[in-house]
Formats: sequence, structure tokens, C-alpha cells
Amino acid sequence: MSSPELAKIPRHLAVIMDGNGRWARRRGMPRIMGHRQGVKAVRQTVTACRELGIEVLTLYAFSKENWNRPKDEVTALMDLLYEYLERELNEMLKNGIRLEAIGEIDQLPQKVQEKLAAVMESTSSNKEMILNLALSYGGRAEIARAVQKIAQKCVAGEIRPEEIDENLVASHLDTAGLPDPDLIIRTSGEMRLSNFLLFQSAYSELYITSTLWPDFDRQELMKALKEFERRERRFGRIGRSFAQACTAIAS
Ligand code: IPE
Ligand code: IPE
Ligand code: MG
Repeated sequence: MSSPELAKIPRHLAVIMDGNGRWARRRGMPRIMGHRQGVKAVRQTVTACRELGIEVLTLYAFSKENWNRPKDEVTALMDLLYEYLERELNEMLKNGIRLEAIGEIDQLPQKVQEKLAAVMESTSSNKEMILNLALSYGGRAEIARAVQKIAQKCVAGEIRPEEIDENLVASHLDTAGLPDPDLIIRTSGEMRLSNFLLFQSAYSELYITSTLWPDFDRQELMKALKEFERRERRFGRIGRSFAQACTAIAS
């Protein structure tokens, strides 16, 4: 896949949207104002990614660990999620965006679960881009759930233990059917994955910016994609220029 502006773009871009609280604190505002502003950055990013031809955009919106935040903040985040889903449905339909979700969806408030299911159903035949929301998501828990499903199939005699390989594990994760993320962006400077896509990120390129999520816009996205364009992905092999030099010496 390529866009006129970039020679290569990620098929799957995943984003750890971090820094909403700090954005608000710097302005002397309550944390929730940072989350509100963060939704604007989500809208801009979704639109830009679709225009650039990215196939899958995964947004880490709420981690399993985020349930440990103060109750008021959790409630506010759930309300924002509901509002976002309600407000964006038409935009998703207009732009051919299919909504999907990963994580422990059954832990979300009933009202949010229903809205999520309705939007996923309404957008299920859209083909322009998959917007995949990671909600109540934890990478370790996702792997543990996959192991449970596989073990159940073994017990039922549907799979033999020797048949368990990387592809089989991948096909039991919440992201089954999606390509692995080519690029993971994390905003606000933290150098960690925070339990995000642990299995799928094995060979993802990482891009960390000190920009706080509410300030992330199309220009910031282009900076990350330009950097990705320059990266040489080796997947354990030797570098392209080194391989060329070896060939030249040998001939
Ligand atoms: C990211 O911003 C949003 C969520 C995790 C839901 P934070 O709320 O983590 O912002 P900081 O890290 O406290 O600045
Ligand atoms: C990661 O951000 C989770 C999301 C962006 C949804 P956190 O702010 O929760 O991560 P830590 O606590 O700094 O690792
Ligand atoms: Mg944070």
C-alpha cells in the first residue's frame, strides 16, 4: 500500500494514546478535559489514516489496568466512549469505516456494550478502513484467553497439542484475521508498551513522541509515517545495504 505522499505506509497502525491527563494538568484543568480534547485528536487521526489508505487503525483507548483509576474518571471515560460512538456512526458510514473492538468487552457498562455492538453491526460491510478499538484490553489477558480456548479444543479432541503453533495462537487472539501492527505510535514520551498487543508487536516498529495525545494531529501523524518510511525492517535478516555489499564482493 502507498499514498501519494509516502512511498510506503503501514498496513496496520496502532496507537497508544497517552498524555491526556498531563495536557489538562498543564492548563490547570481537570483530567477529563484532557480526555475530551483527546477525542478531537481521535477524529483527526481516523480521518487522516483513512485518507492515507491505512487498512487497520488500532487505538488503545482503555486498558484493563485503567479500571484502577478513580471511579469518576472511569465513568467519564465510559460516557465519552458512548458519546463518541453515537456521534461518529454517520461519519463512519459516510467514510466506509468498519468498527471493531478487542479486549474484555463484557466488562464495559451494558449501555456502552450495546452501542458498540450496534455500531459494529451497522458498519460491518464497510471496506475503506477498520477502526479497531482496544477497550478493557490487556495483552497478557488476551494471550491467557487464547490459551484457554485452545486448551478447550484440545480437551474436546478438535486439536492435537502438536498442532499448536504461532499461527494457531494468533488465530485465537482478539485480533484474529488482522495483520500484525507494522507501526506502534506512543504519545507523551513514555517508553513502554503498557500491556498493549504483546504477541502481535513482535516485529512492530516503535515510534515514541513527546507530544501529548490531545495535541496529536495530521502533521504529527505524517512525522511518524515519514520516520516509518525511513526504517529498514530486517525481521532478523541482515541489512539490505550489507547484503548488496556482500553480493558485490562475491561477484
Ligand atoms: C491516556 O491519557 C488516556 C487513557 C489512558 C484512558 P492518560 O489519562 O493516561 O494521561 P496521563 O498519562 O495521565 O497524562
Ligand atoms: C496506556 O496508558 C493505556 C492507554 C493509552 C489506554 P496508561 O497511561 O494507562 O499507561 P501507564 O500507566 O503510563 O503505563
Ligand atoms: Mg497515561
